[in-house]
Amino acid sequence: MKISVIGCGYLGAVHAAAMASIGHEVVGVDVDENKVKALAEARAPFFEPGLPDMLAEGVSSGRLRFTTDMSQVKESVVHFIGVGTPQRKGGYAADLRYVDAAIEALVPFLKPGDIVAGKSTVPVGTAARLASAVSKAGATLVWNPEFLREGWAVQDTIDPDRLVVGVPDGDQGDRAAEVLRRLYYPATDKGTPFLVTDYATAELVKVAANAFLATKISFINAMAEIAEVTGADVTQLADAIGHDARIGRRFLGAGIGFGGGCLPKDIRAFAARAEELGKGESVGFLREVDAINLRRRDRAVELVVSALDGSLHGKKVAVLGAAFKPHSDDIRDSPALDVAVRLHGLGAAVTVTDPEALENAQRLHPQLQYQSDTRVALQDAEIVLVVTEWDEYRKDLDPAEAGEVVAQRIVVDGRNCLDPVAWRAAGWDYYGMGRP
Ligand code: UDX
Repeated sequence: MKISVIGCGYLGAVHAAAMASIGHEVVGVDVDENKVKALAEARAPFFEPGLPDMLAEGVSSGRLRFTTDMSQVKESVVHFIGVGTPQRKGGYAADLRYVDAAIEALVPFLKPGDIVAGKSTVPVGTAARLASAVSKAGATLVWNPEFLREGWAVQDTIDPDRLVVGVPDGDQGDRAAEVLRRLYYPATDKGTPFLVTDYATAELVKVAANAFLATKISFINAMAEIAEVTGADVTQLADAIGHDARIGRRFLGAGIGFGGGCLPKDIRAFAARAEELGKGESVGFLREVDAINLRRRDRAVELVVSALDGSLHGKKVAVLGAAFKPHSDDIRDSPALDVAVRLHGLGAAVTVTDPEALENAQRLHPQLQYQSDTRVALQDAEIVLVVTEWDEYRKDLDPAEAGEVVAQRIVVDGRNCLDPVAWRAAGWDYYGMGRP
């Protein structure tokens, strides 16, 4: 099929490349000339495992193009909208200006029978608001939320665990759902659940899923707070409750909490939208979820301050991790970087290291020191913090070797990803989150 993808950020660039890889003819459109230039040369503008190969294959096959010129979408029959919906400045609601601008720019090039498929995460009610502009051009709007995880985006796009399409009532909607079912044929042929819903349900599925995941993380972090005052170990608690299949162990990783470009802003936008709908109390708990999450960053700072006997002034701190999670160079709302910045604010001499996110971190927080070599970052440190659970720290870092280069063997494990027994055996004072 001939398809276009409007917006080539994390979501759009991966979607465009993935759709080309399954045989579609794809044009990606973005307003950012630098991004388009990079993608057209098969260079990924961000770190995402598997994306460079998929881009190279798509571009060289001729099935994948990128442009800033919207008129290039004229021949496409399905147009995906994958632009960002960031948190609005000075508020919690989503900023829909990029979605609105994308639709406005696209409409003049639509033909009767075309399908516009929104993938961006939007407040419930957005698709209904945009539908008439699309249908005036004879096209059909559907909402097809995206559930990809950064770091696994390629796999999640090609082989998702479910596909959801919100369509309008009637024949047009049924037809559009059928077109998307065919478009996603590798997944739908092998029986991946394909759920056809109305607009509101499709929009809500996405925010409900993210709200649930965020709640799960904050739940275990709330248990970590209780563990901290009772001497319990939250990781054992998570293992034990996780064996209950109804609960499950995934997303019960206690630590410095969630960040990134999705969970934090999505739960805030959901709470803001619910309030607009007069149902703020229905998701009032999301404010608590957010508050618990942010408190864990305070807790990590507290642990460092108390481990260093109350003063951080001039203390050398090595921070291992800057990305909001491993396998990503994304630092948007990164708990890791936030903790580093706070320690710097308290007078510590902070050196940050990360396998992929240093360039982004440096651009946003030039006041910190950066070091790409873990060993050099550890040199003479008076305390070490692990705040992103990269394999480089979790698996590869040997506590005895690390102990040779630091000034003091004190480690704060902000992700509960190290083995306390091994670190203590190598002479380290080990502090976990929610662990004795
Ligand atoms: C999330 C959703 O998982 C995805 O379905 C949606 O499409 C976009 O938002 P992503 O932002 O890529 O994906 O990250 P995710 O893997 O969900 O992790 C989010 C944050 O939660 C990270 O900061 C991670 O470190 C943290 N986390 C995750 C925990 O603190 N504990 C856990 O147990 C799991």
